Amino acid sequence: MHRTHNCGELRPEHVNQKVTLSGWVQRKRDKGGMIWIDLRDRYGITQLAFDESKTDAEVLKRIEKIGREYVIKATGTVIERYSKNNNIPTGEIEVFPDEIIILSQSETPPFTIEDESDGSDELRMKYRYLDIRRNPVREALMLRHKIAQETRKYLDTFDFVEVETPNLIKSTPEGARDFVVPSRMHPGSFYALPQSPQTFKQLLMLGGMDKYFQIVKCYRDEDLRADRQPEFTQIDCEMAFVEQDDIMKTFEGLMKHLFNQVKNIKIETPFKRMTWHDAMDKYGSDKPDIRFDMEIHELTSLVQNQGFKVFDMVEYVGGICAKKAASYTRKQLDELTKFVQKPQIGAKGLVYVKCNEDGSFKSSVDKFFDAEALKKWADAFNAEPGDLLLLLAGDKRKTQEQLCELRLEMGNQLDLRKPGTFAPLWIVDFPLLEWDEETQRFYAMHHPFTSAKTEDNGFFDTDPGKIRANAYDMVINGVELGGGSIRIHNREDQARMFKLLGFTTEEAESQFGFLMNAFRYGVPPHGGIAFGFDRVCALFGGSDSIRDYIAFPKNNAGRDVMIDAPAPIANTQLSELELKLNLKPKH
Ligand code: AMO
Repeated sequence: MHRTHNCGELRPEHVNQKVTLSGWVQRKRDKGGMIWIDLRDRYGITQLAFDESKTDAEVLKRIEKIGREYVIKATGTVIERYSKNNNIPTGEIEVFPDEIIILSQSETPPFTIEDESDGSDELRMKYRYLDIRRNPVREALMLRHKIAQETRKYLDTFDFVEVETPNLIKSTPEGARDFVVPSRMHPGSFYALPQSPQTFKQLLMLGGMDKYFQIVKCYRDEDLRADRQPEFTQIDCEMAFVEQDDIMKTFEGLMKHLFNQVKNIKIETPFKRMTWHDAMDKYGSDKPDIRFDMEIHELTSLVQNQGFKVFDMVEYVGGICAKKAASYTRKQLDELTKFVQKPQIGAKGLVYVKCNEDGSFKSSVDKFFDAEALKKWADAFNAEPGDLLLLLAGDKRKTQEQLCELRLEMGNQLDLRKPGTFAPLWIVDFPLLEWDEETQRFYAMHHPFTSAKTEDNGFFDTDPGKIRANAYDMVINGVELGGGSIRIHNREDQARMFKLLGFTTEEAESQFGFLMNAFRYGVPPHGGIAFGFDRVCALFGGSDSIRDYIAFPKNNAGRDVMIDAPAPIANTQLSELELKLNLKPKH
């Protein structure tokens, strides 16, 4: 028998019991006469104590060999500790072993297996199995497990059925590039890995499953960020005979359940709702962090035609009011200017107005605007003495997005984005389509299966850019946790949508013939949503990076550095697939 108890289990009530524990050696201390070993497993740490004068010589010899991360088995008696350690649950006892067996030796690990490790990110990823032994990683994976279990419980209660959908499918356009898999049996043909099970879940509704869910891997070949992985997991759901409100209610319920069960936090439902247009105008983002106000205000008409070229030449001037930040120093303001000028943000410059405590103003544009003009700006923000106005100018959408970045930065600097506070909302009334200047065509903002608001039907022929979609995103603390829509459920509307997106009838037929065909056989009105499961975990765990919640994540270059993937394949594999490489020379 390898163990009678685990390493987190023993308490004073076990004193005098003979026990066997197995685990990893966290550390060994030799204090001359006494030796202690901290033995660790997933459940905790138990201290083993050896009195050299009373320990068998053979056992002592083995102890001498033992180093960090050795796997050992110890059998002995539980004793009440003389000096108790209140920091760990097993701190009131220790085990005095009379037998030790080394189950596996360990080389010195490349980094310390402690909560605060000395290993770099890359090193810890290369040895991820060692990293997983650390408390923070283990806890993150346990949190993920708990959220998955609670999700299943909630959805099962509401009659959702978990159905698996295939991974080897045909490419569906969802905005990202597909990962493709060559077929040996059909040389020259490729499967695509699903960007999401979108069409399958719709077909399950056609199949009469009524309520579907799946915790499912999705694959997208896109640029990576802290909240994006090429291979990620969705809580994917679809419901038949529902309207937008039914879905929103069901999934606010899921979030409420998860917050309650996993974090013991009560969140209010129904969630706030904001139209996409309002979100863009007030926050410059379709995923606003509404833990704090600092809304964006447009000042274009108020500031133009007064002799300041920078404002006169642009489409839009807007700003934010940072409460009680008029005390910002020159250096801090210079740093903010540098912040908005970073290439990722791309503003030309930053105009500031300090609303001084004595009612006067100090601005970076004093040469062009007098106190009376600045007072009007301050009034537009409802600014009070002590506040700081920050203004940007340029193209409307771009400037709003820059103001969003500035607003979030100010939120961070002024400590307004409180960890542990959760501010959920729905973004609704997204535009159905997005115009792309480069390719001169419309793209579906969500995906091509999203239905349009009936009231906007008239715009299909006149101004498609104005059509609003029956689409919704759930956003918490500035994170897009999930999104979905009510789907098109008849052939004519779906064909009209494909046409708008620039598909010829033949292209639509070859890519989506299966769906269009299915639409001949009785389609229930349906809709759904998918949550980024990794993002839900990161939000609950209080981290910005979803990598922390994935057992074996990819790095920022999309590589798994532990198994070293992607990697070339053997020529025999290539020839079986009838593939030839045509690699471009590396620069
Ligand atoms: P969407 O593309 O909005 O919708 O994806 C749903 C949610 O998945 C998460 N997500 C990601 N998480 C990590 N890494 C990524 N690369 C990544 N991409 C997306 C986000 C996002 O909100 N089929 C539709 C859903 C539907 O209409 O029902 C879909 O996939 O949290």
